[in-house]
Amino acid sequence: MKIAVLSDIHEGLNRKKTECDILGLLADWILEHSPDIFIISGDIAADPDKALAALNRLQKEVPGTRLLFVNGNHDIYAPDSEAAYEKLLRFPGNLGNGPVELANDWVIIGDGGWYDYSFGVDGFSEEEFAAGTYKDYHWPDMKYAHWPGSDAEETRRSLERLEAWLQQYEGRNIILVTHVIPFRHYLRVKNIGSWDFFNAMMGSERYGELALKYGVKKYIFGHIHLRYHETYEGIEVICNPLGYYPSEWLTDSAEEEIASTIKMIEID
Ligand SMILES: [Fe+2]
Ligand SMILES: [Fe+2]
Repeated sequence: MKIAVLSDIHEGLNRKKTECDILGLLADWILEHSPDIFIISGDIAADPDKALAALNRLQKEVPGTRLLFVNGNHDIYAPDSEAAYEKLLRFPGNLGNGPVELANDWVIIGDGGWYDYSFGVDGFSEEEFAAGTYKDYHWPDMKYAHWPGSDAEETRRSLERLEAWLQQYEGRNIILVTHVIPFRHYLRVKNIGSWDFFNAMMGSERYGELALKYGVKKYIFGHIHLRYHETYEGIEVICNPLGYYPSEWLTDSAEEEIASTIKMIEID
């Protein structure tokens, strides 16, 4: 079974900047390579209506491939992010609806996840991270995401959802998917305050702890616009963002960037 992986498509921004139909190019790639499953690990768009429309359009254009999705922080940018999260569950392939069982005891479990500042650097208080401001830099989630609970509470809610599913499928071959980062290992520490401060908003150590506790085989995430594929702590870890054009792309061609970025893995 072939599983393709991509995150951080940021459809609107990349479409406008490249003047290319990013979703159409993605559909072309999927039709040409026909993976059985295509996992999008968050940040497909910058609000839930656009994200839902993008997912529905893409799934319609590639009926032979099952699209699976977890929300990113950008996908729930709305006056009510909880309602946005619920709206995104209308997409049948949203893993927030529950685990997806595959052949040979494989199961895909996922949720977008959030952050609890457990990746925060020393020297800042909870209140400073919650404000999300370092000098003139502002973390956009503080302006555009509106959850009912604090960041730590929203993280805990997603961890509880995931752990209930992990308990249910303990002992199976589990692929865990979040948008946020599960291990400190994947942060980039630059020793520059304006960068390192925002590592607090990258994810939570708790996701990595869950992955280890339940012996997951593969872990797929996004959010940090850096590409990784390696074995870490015995887990095959994939972070495979498309990222922003042009600063984060290796080519000037949307078609080439999509083709060279998408990661295909096989399970049997
Ligand atoms: Fe992103
Ligand atoms: Fe993100």
